[in-house]
Amino acid sequence: MTDIDWVSRHGYLGIFIGETEHQSKGHGRQAVRLMLRHAFRDLGLHRVYLTVLEDNPRALRVYEKCGFVVEGRLRQHAYKRGQFRDLILMGICADDLGGDGADKPTRVGQDNSTPLT
Ligand SMILES: CC(C)(COP(=O)(O)OP(=O)(O)OC[C@H]1O[C@@H](n2cnc3c(N)ncnc32)[C@H](O)[C@@H]1OP(=O)(O)O)[C@@H](O)C(=O)NCCC(=O)NCCS
Repeated sequence: MTDIDWVSRHGYLGIFIGETEHQSKGHGRQAVRLMLRHAFRDLGLHRVYLTVLEDNPRALRVYEKCGFVVEGRLRQHAYKRGQFRDLILMGICADDLGGDGADKPTRVGQDNSTPLT
């Protein structure tokens, strides 16, 4: 969690599983959920946001399953592999998860509706 604004109570989430053999085993989703619990419960944040390259379907899937919603597109914001690429802006608010974020999720995808406990 970086760029925490303690007045507006938001923070930026970033995640990177460097070893490819450890990817796509559910660790990313679990890590994001743990980070959300930490952000909302321990840090008292109200909102968490992130950006992700438009052509990163695995990351987009993980974030959506954790309750993030697409909020916008930063056009040609990142220069990667020789071209300007769009970044997708995503966010989640404590309200989305039920009040202070400590309750059972209400908007998280039905197939992953594991509470943040
Ligand atoms: C992105 C990242 C954090 C995801 O974590 P992970 O442990 O690999 O992902 P998980 O196993 O938790 O979940 C992957 C999900 O994406 C899905 N998925 C995988 N490849 C996919 C693809 N090409 N298209 C659509 N969905 C895909 C999987 O089926 C799974 O969804 P499911 O649980 O509904 O089956 C991790 O892969 C990573 O660090 N990648 C490199 C760095 C990176 O991209 N970071 C994000 C920058 S914003």
